[in-house]
Amino acid sequence: MKTTISQAPRYNEETVTIGAWLTNKRSSGKIAFLQLRDGTGFMQGVVVKNDVSEEAFQLAKNITQESSMYITGKIVEDTRSPFGYEMQVSDIELIHEAHDYPITPKEHGTEFLMDHRHLWLRSKRQHAVMKIRNEIIRATYQFFNDKGYVKIDPPILTGSSAEGTTELFHTKYFDEEAYLSQSGQLYMEAAAMAFGKVFSFGPTFRAEKSKTRRHLIEFWMIEPEMAFVEHEESLEIQENYVSFIVQSVLANCKLELQTLDRDISSLEKVQAPFPRITYDEAVALLKEKGFTDIEWGEDFGAPHETAIAESFDKPVFITNYPIGIKAFYMKPHPERDDVVLCADLIAPEGYGEIIGGSQRIDDLQLMEERYKEHGLTGEAYQWYLELRKYGSVPHSGFGLGLERTVAWLAGVNHVRETIPFPRLLNRLYP
Ligand code: 4AD
Ligand code: MG
Repeated sequence: MKTTISQAPRYNEETVTIGAWLTNKRSSGKIAFLQLRDGTGFMQGVVVKNDVSEEAFQLAKNITQESSMYITGKIVEDTRSPFGYEMQVSDIELIHEAHDYPITPKEHGTEFLMDHRHLWLRSKRQHAVMKIRNEIIRATYQFFNDKGYVKIDPPILTGSSAEGTTELFHTKYFDEEAYLSQSGQLYMEAAAMAFGKVFSFGPTFRAEKSKTRRHLIEFWMIEPEMAFVEHEESLEIQENYVSFIVQSVLANCKLELQTLDRDISSLEKVQAPFPRITYDEAVALLKEKGFTDIEWGEDFGAPHETAIAESFDKPVFITNYPIGIKAFYMKPHPERDDVVLCADLIAPEGYGEIIGGSQRIDDLQLMEERYKEHGLTGEAYQWYLELRKYGSVPHSGFGLGLERTVAWLAGVNHVRETIPFPRLLNRLYP
């Protein structure tokens, strides 16, 4: 019976064959312990000299790291391993012998590992991080599909910018100038007017010259947009969504969280509702905490966000930022013209901003004024203004950065480990 490591527990006490790679091995005299991986999981194979042919035993003793094989044996319970099962090997068929695999079980420097990202992905730790990423994506589709949202795919090549013009990747589009999308939001607003509640999931690009542990040049964003939803209701959707993905990861990635030594007690507390503080309160809190460098009207940096997050044991919304530091499309506060109806969601434990969102301007005249102030006039934006011309309605939306969310849930320090092939300031390889 051909199966996989993740399915092996179903075949307890039965003999199965698994296509696998060798990650490590240890042998002494009449026994060899093979650490196997097959993409679905990790499991030990035990080869006892008297139970296999002489040829198979010699192969087990000499097989090299990352060589591939079909391995056959009986699945038995093994209470000592976190996986809970191992294989009593009866036969090995070598597929391909690997030589001089560069990533040995010893420690390697980060740059070396990043240069070998195509191989580093095979490691147990990277496997666990990617499985958590996959679970967040799966839970996202479940959450929004169950609530009747329609998945809409905004374009990646665009003629307009959503988040300011300084961080755009320029490219030629035949004879026109085009950019790689910074955010699908403007298109998602059009989609919300056509389908009510929508969400997107796709790559976005920021030519940011930031070299921090939170910034990628190419990252993936989940962007829901909802017609007839105002700011406060949008915050409720956000906290329910984030709670749902955290609880899904806790329920479905137990082994991965254990592999990563993630402290799950802090994640267990992540249940809606989340605390909310205004930008004004956040500035006051920072001053209390001894930050003398921050003045009303300035944006927060990573140390500020971390300090604010420390006061809460759940993610915290910072609402109503000054109009001057936020995007052109955000709706002004009904009682104040110096702040807008927006919120950033700051993750606990120093993982930073994971969501940026707002209620959008729905008044045509105000939107036209904002356009002029931001120098965004021209044909490329006509379609966006037209959304305010034909049956404009209150609407809100937000963008969740997938990689920062993975970093938080997996307890990984740097976003470079949260995406299969990171694009960083100085890295386009592999
Ligand atoms: O706050 P941002 O820039 O918001 C938008 O793009 C809105 N148009 C979204 C919307 O309302 N539909 O980005 C949203 C999130 C951030 O909170 C952060 O998690 C992530 O995207 N993000 C990045 N992640 C990794 N590397 C970068 N350079 C990122 N820039 C933003
Ligand atoms: Mg933001």
